[in-house]
Amino acid sequence: MPQANKHMKHIEVPGTRQFANRVDEFPDAVDLTLGQSDFSTPESVKEAAIEAIKNKEMRYSHNTGLLELREVISSYYKEKYGGEYDPHGEVLVTVGGSEGIDAILRAILDPGDEVLVPAPTYLGYEPIIELSGGVTKFIDTTKDGYIATPEAIEANITKRTKAVILNYPTNPTGVTYTKEQVDRLAEMFKQHDIFVITDEIYAENTLEGEHASMAAYPDIKDRVLVVNGLSKSHAMTGWRIGYVVGHRDIMEEVITVHLYNTICAAIPSQYAAIEALRNQRHVPAEMNEAYIRRRDYIYGRLVDMGLEVSKPTGAFYIFPSVSKYDEDSFRFATDLLETVQLAVVPGRSFSEFGEGHIRLSFACSMEELTEAADRLEKYIKMREAR
Ligand SMILES: Cc1ncc(COP(=O)(O)O)c(C=O)c1O
Repeated sequence: MPQANKHMKHIEVPGTRQFANRVDEFPDAVDLTLGQSDFSTPESVKEAAIEAIKNKEMRYSHNTGLLELREVISSYYKEKYGGEYDPHGEVLVTVGGSEGIDAILRAILDPGDEVLVPAPTYLGYEPIIELSGGVTKFIDTTKDGYIATPEAIEANITKRTKAVILNYPTNPTGVTYTKEQVDRLAEMFKQHDIFVITDEIYAENTLEGEHASMAAYPDIKDRVLVVNGLSKSHAMTGWRIGYVVGHRDIMEEVITVHLYNTICAAIPSQYAAIEALRNQRHVPAEMNEAYIRRRDYIYGRLVDMGLEVSKPTGAFYIFPSVSKYDEDSFRFATDLLETVQLAVVPGRSFSEFGEGHIRLSFACSMEELTEAADRLEKYIKMREAR
């Protein structure tokens, strides 16, 4: 029988999905596994897509996306994050942030190239690195408050290092980086000829302070590739619109991969994205008000339960340690689901450095969050009584 790509043997269905799928077996379950907002896409964004379907050509756009959208992204990046990107050749509209990550990795990696990934980490990078023939090198951030320090990254750079992938605000830990931390990283990257892939998809979900983007450092523009998108900022996961901005030399290669892979992102979604980034820039801040209330609530409950946990400064995840009950986070999460019907993601899904933790998403209603906290508390009391 013909065989699949040999890397496929090591690539599993992500832990987030595995648990979300199991939730269906428990009709009464409270589900805190998935990483998407419970808000709806803004009405005017939906209207913009409907309007476009009725009145605009539904043909392929330019491979890099509709010029109008690229111009909006370019001005948004300049105004919001201080990054200068030419809509002609430095902005690429992708099918979600995911396709951007895929196109970048395939455009830059040769077999054997190493990619440094601070961990615990989002689980979408490693499989694409492996499929591109690259080698993933996780960097342990657990002793540094889940922040990748310049020292830790530098200590892992070898002749084979091709890139580092930053992600902040961070999935799954909910931490984000201060301007000072980003400044120090940017300073260090000047000394090294490696690509800096910076997944800033949760930039708008910054819950403390301002997001400092890697796009804001002209000295290292030639090596920085920023991934962003509308999925999290405007509750638009199903629309599948992301984008990559970067220096035109490397963007040319990224655009070529994208062109062969997808031709262009869906046109109705591109029109929706224009409306979101042009007229609905206030929306993320409104959602953040709710996320902050929920964060404060769930953080307080977890602390009261005696769990070791840090207060999230970004994204909509909280990542308590459960190692005093079970070192094996898969076993803990499975038992939690089966005993009190609460679905969370085991920390090990986010690399070995997430072991001993669970990820709870607070992109859900306050009622669900309250019920989830009650169930977790009940479960913990049961464990203590065992
Ligand atoms: C860190 C991170 N990057 C990228 C993505 C994928 O985003 P998109 O839905 O835009 O493909 C996710 C989704 O959860 C994520 O958490």
